[in-house]
Amino acid sequence: MRSERLNLRQLMYDFDSVIPRQGSGSIKYDRRPELDPFWVADMDFASAPEILTAIHQRVDHGIFGYAQAHAGLESALADYLLKRRHASVPKEQIVHLGGLVPALSLAGRAFCKPGDAVMTCTPVYPPFVGIHHDAEAELVTVDHRMVQGRWEMDWEAMEQAVHAKVKCFLLCNPQNPLGRVFTADEVVRLAMFCEAHDLVLVSDEIHCDLIFDELATPHFSALNLTENLRKRTITLLSPSKTWNIAGLGYAYAVIPDETLRRKFSAARGHTLSEINALSYYAAEAAYRDGEPWREALMRYLAVNRAELLSTIERDCPMLKVHAGEATYLAWIDARELGVENPALHIEKKGGLYLSDGKFFGWPGWVRFNFGCPHSRLREGLARLIAAVN
Ligand SMILES: Cc1ncc(COP(=O)(O)O)c(C=O)c1O
Repeated sequence: MRSERLNLRQLMYDFDSVIPRQGSGSIKYDRRPELDPFWVADMDFASAPEILTAIHQRVDHGIFGYAQAHAGLESALADYLLKRRHASVPKEQIVHLGGLVPALSLAGRAFCKPGDAVMTCTPVYPPFVGIHHDAEAELVTVDHRMVQGRWEMDWEAMEQAVHAKVKCFLLCNPQNPLGRVFTADEVVRLAMFCEAHDLVLVSDEIHCDLIFDELATPHFSALNLTENLRKRTITLLSPSKTWNIAGLGYAYAVIPDETLRRKFSAARGHTLSEINALSYYAAEAAYRDGEPWREALMRYLAVNRAELLSTIERDCPMLKVHAGEATYLAWIDARELGVENPALHIEKKGGLYLSDGKFFGWPGWVRFNFGCPHSRLREGLARLIAAVN
């Protein structure tokens, strides 16, 4: 009975309606209004009704003074971390933040002094290859490599690249833009690499609730490492990508080791503002009540992913794309187009706004965001076909 009710509710979620976003102060739509946007990582869906209700209720209170995490959020977080991330996390280990990118920057500043280095693997979400500037640190990057149809870490190259000045490693898991969900073996091996070289492991897991098949590719969080490895980790999480509430600004860091946590928090200084009062309530509703919507979303996105893959294979033979295991982002090899800047070429010829791979450390590639109604995806793909053929 309960599951029948759940299924009926899932059918009621509307992912098909095209909600006009132009002129709504959207980075995605209003930065380059002359182009059709399939770039920055937010989705063209209204957030879950449960979240909208929670925000409305908080708005109706009328007072928006300085906010802190309320008891309802703390218990929703603890339940979520236990059920979905399989980690029992005391609330003292959680540092609430207004976003995940500031957390990456804080980690760089907390653990590197000028002249030290941050390490990561590319291609990767652009701030990973930018935050070292905030710490006046160097950057060490190693390319991921394709092994038997799967993107992997290049362990040998990493051993060669790491050196005494490297102080922290930034992991993106699930990986944006590759869509890989790293296996337990891979995460453990990376944590052991960090231990061997005395690095803090910063694990950005913002996409961990956007996995298409959690049985085939389960998420192994840095929180699931054994205690001796976990103590050098900072795990960054947020409901923002999954429930499409990135504009509200909320994320949190789980830092099991007290010394690490103190250093991380001290690096904040006076650089961060208080956290948005509405975002706390949105996060609580997402984690407490958002699961049916999330499951329906993943089914919808899986259809989009399949359509994008088959359309590109059939109609754009010059482009190469692999099915990601997670995220609504497709990483497309456009080097065969033979143009200097494929993103610019696609923009000029098709009026389509994609993310340029050069910002992820890999020029010649583009990233396509398929987090949108099916009808919008078809419009975007039609533009892509027109641009490349
Ligand atoms: C891997 C990753 N980390 C962080 C962010 C952004 O986080 P926030 O908006 O909380 O700063 C994104 C956004 O696309 C992302 O893909």
